[in-house]
Amino acid sequence: MADVLLNNVWKRFDDGTVAVKDVSFELKDGSFLVIVGPSGCGKTTTLRMIAGLEMITEGTISIGGCVVNSVHPKDRDIAMVFQNYALYPHMTVRGNLEFALKMRKTPKEERKRRVAEATRMLKLNGLLDRKPKQLSGGQRQRVALGRAIVREPRVFLFDEPLSNLDAKLRTQTRAELQRLHHELKATSIYVTHDQVEAMTMADMIVVMNEGEVQQIAPPMELYERPANRFVAGFIGTVGMNFFEGLVLKENGTHRFVEQGTGVALTLPLGENFSDRMGTARLIGIRPEHFVISDQSDQCSFPVTVKVVETLGSQTLIHFPSGNGLSIASIYPDHQPLCGETIWLRVLPERVHFFETDGLRIETTTAIV
Ligand SMILES: Nc1ncnc2c1ncn2[C@@H]1O[C@H](COP(=O)(O)OP(=O)(O)O)[C@@H](O)[C@H]1O
Ligand SMILES: [Mg+2]
Repeated sequence: MADVLLNNVWKRFDDGTVAVKDVSFELKDGSFLVIVGPSGCGKTTTLRMIAGLEMITEGTISIGGCVVNSVHPKDRDIAMVFQNYALYPHMTVRGNLEFALKMRKTPKEERKRRVAEATRMLKLNGLLDRKPKQLSGGQRQRVALGRAIVREPRVFLFDEPLSNLDAKLRTQTRAELQRLHHELKATSIYVTHDQVEAMTMADMIVVMNEGEVQQIAPPMELYERPANRFVAGFIGTVGMNFFEGLVLKENGTHRFVEQGTGVALTLPLGENFSDRMGTARLIGIRPEHFVISDQSDQCSFPVTVKVVETLGSQTLIHFPSGNGLSIASIYPDHQPLCGETIWLRVLPERVHFFETDGLRIETTTAIV
């Protein structure tokens, strides 16, 4: 096991595409880091540079304290698990598990021990003599994991390993991977476009967009204090709603007045907000931070219900704001009807403020 350190890493492909821009992060020995971001943001390229499958244009990558920029992939002591399992179709499960060990001339007794250990961890007993085509998708993915585990590498790299599984199996395998990580305590870097995977599995998350790091933080910090509008919108199962407006001074007090979308939303602001007055043009409110209210509350506003989605544990209310719809997630004990006008209250301590350029404005007690 080992620490991994990326220092100002760039990747420029021959055709001029700059896929990774000045990426730096550190991963402590034994921790589980997730790189998350939309398709094409440079996740795979970053992982392939760590594995040594892609040259680094600029910057350094260190593993266990040594710069590995020019170390051959096979000498980096890393195991990578891909989305498309990449099992050998003509070999049995046992053959697939043993292959890398045989190539490395690992003694037979040691090979047996490691295969037995991986078989136990991944519950592959009874499958060892089957060929990949005789396995389900979930079983194949477990064999692919097993092939990485038997190598006992210093670092595990995972590139969207659950993407080919159906939703239920994905959830199960996610939990399985967490359990394995607790058992193995292996330094792991896991790449995904799925923010739920990132939130549920990571000790630390690196959010990327267009080749650049947007924020590095533990899961709850990303959720509670997103560094910018991109992270705010990306993290969260139902995305954050954004409202444009102006900070105005009326009768001696500051108010944020919604202007962009025509929602009658006005929020009274606290004292310490005044020094940033005029810079806030955008607020963000997560769907789960609205509650059903009435006219009497100064943080409430009326909306017309356009769509009602009943999920059982919660009900999603879509209401018009500007050219689109915003979403409030409310307790299911209240089921409004389409076309009805309801009052929503904003939980004031949960409102996020952003500068015009999208950067977060830190406001501890922004709203009175
Ligand atoms: N071999 C290559 N040559 C040129 N551009 C590439 C190559 N591989 C990837 N890219 C580009 O680099 C960017 C990042 O790709 P990738 O790392 O695969 O993204 P992700 O894994 O986040 O979806 C994309 O714009 C992609 O088209
Ligand atoms: Mg990728």
